[in-house]
Amino acid sequence: MPEQPLIFPADFLWGVSTSAHQVEGNNHNQWSQWEAVGNTASGDQSGIACDWWNNAERDFDLARELGLNALRLSVEWSRIEPEPDKFDVNAIERYREMLSGLHQRGIKPLITLHHFTNPIWFEEAGGFLTADSKAQFEKFVRRVVEDLGDLCDTWVTFNEPNVYSTLGYLVGEFPPGQRSQLGTTVTVLANIARAHACAYRAIHELQPHPRVGWTDNYIVFEPANSQSRLDRMVAAAQHHLFNLSFLRVIERGSLVFPFNLFSGDLEEAKGSCDFVGLNVYNRAYVRFDLKFPASLFGHIFIPDDVPQGDPGIDHPYGEAYPHAIYLAAQNAAQLKKPIYILENGVPDAQDRIRPWLITNVVREMHALIQEGIDLRGYFHWSLVDNFEWSEGWRLRFGLYALDRETQRRTPRLSAQLYSAIVKANGLTEEALAAQATSNRA
Ligand code: BGC
Repeated sequence: MPEQPLIFPADFLWGVSTSAHQVEGNNHNQWSQWEAVGNTASGDQSGIACDWWNNAERDFDLARELGLNALRLSVEWSRIEPEPDKFDVNAIERYREMLSGLHQRGIKPLITLHHFTNPIWFEEAGGFLTADSKAQFEKFVRRVVEDLGDLCDTWVTFNEPNVYSTLGYLVGEFPPGQRSQLGTTVTVLANIARAHACAYRAIHELQPHPRVGWTDNYIVFEPANSQSRLDRMVAAAQHHLFNLSFLRVIERGSLVFPFNLFSGDLEEAKGSCDFVGLNVYNRAYVRFDLKFPASLFGHIFIPDDVPQGDPGIDHPYGEAYPHAIYLAAQNAAQLKKPIYILENGVPDAQDRIRPWLITNVVREMHALIQEGIDLRGYFHWSLVDNFEWSEGWRLRFGLYALDRETQRRTPRLSAQLYSAIVKANGLTEEALAAQATSNRA
């Protein structure tokens, strides 16, 4: 039986997400340093990446061809403020050019102010471990909003404070590479919440009607054995630390127990958001195991028989789980603010399961809207394969495949599917036919 078309609200945003360091090329920040000394699991370096600093417009053209009406990009702090209090007007001018280029193509830009990377001077001074970090960040934000504010009204202060703090200070996969530092992880998270609150207020002071939020990564933590109390306990602990911490800070001005013991007062962050962003990729399974103190005594694993994209170097990327979007949005709805899915995708060089993922994610989002959840947009990660942090060039998330040598872009079949969805503003027979074509390929 043909499926009923699932049509979205007329002003729904269909976009893609990117981040400066992953696409611009030749950045000079704590990540490029980390790469240069061989600290990525892949050994890869970002190099010229997708060459956006010279030619982001090539990809903006692709975005326009797909029919997208929004694009999330980030501005690189280390380019704009290469030394403390010294701002580079040429860098700012290049961002103005990019933002104007998006507007000219009918694409609304959303700017992320911090997407994992720090200027080296800021990192060397202790990054977000120091009490001073919020003032430094606010200065940068003020400058960006003063200089780019006429071209953007929607700001994502921080990308994934939960990933930045846990991978940098608990797991050690991101710079500065610390391991098993739960107290430090919570301190970093708390200082990011303070910096977020300062940025929120500063932007509202500088712009008449901005929309300011942050975006967190949301993972579904499934107890390996639902009958086991210990498995359920550790899965719940991970859910609290990873998925709920920042949300609670914004909602209540404090972290959940016991993390509040390390964080100090966070009242200043209460209520500081106009929307909630969610980056949703995976489900993971959790088994109680004393050998894993860094992950709160939960051994995280992915069973072989679940849908998965391509594996990372040392571990699987996770179960591709469309229903995660439904769970994440239901959870975030507690804040009673508009919600945007600011990232969703799968590493899948051959496009084996991406079409399936996109189609089912659209179904989940439609169900959420039907149930009254204020979901305003979906941003696929990503338009073109880009530098995937520690996994380097191994994991391929693009609707377009990138040949790094030639910088040639080749559409995967998912590009055609996503474009059909975007142009129809929903899931229609035509879009499903595009998926069928990709399944046959
Ligand atoms: C990050 C992106 C990353 C993506 C895919 C998200 O956690 O914000 O920078 O490339 O996941 O792993």
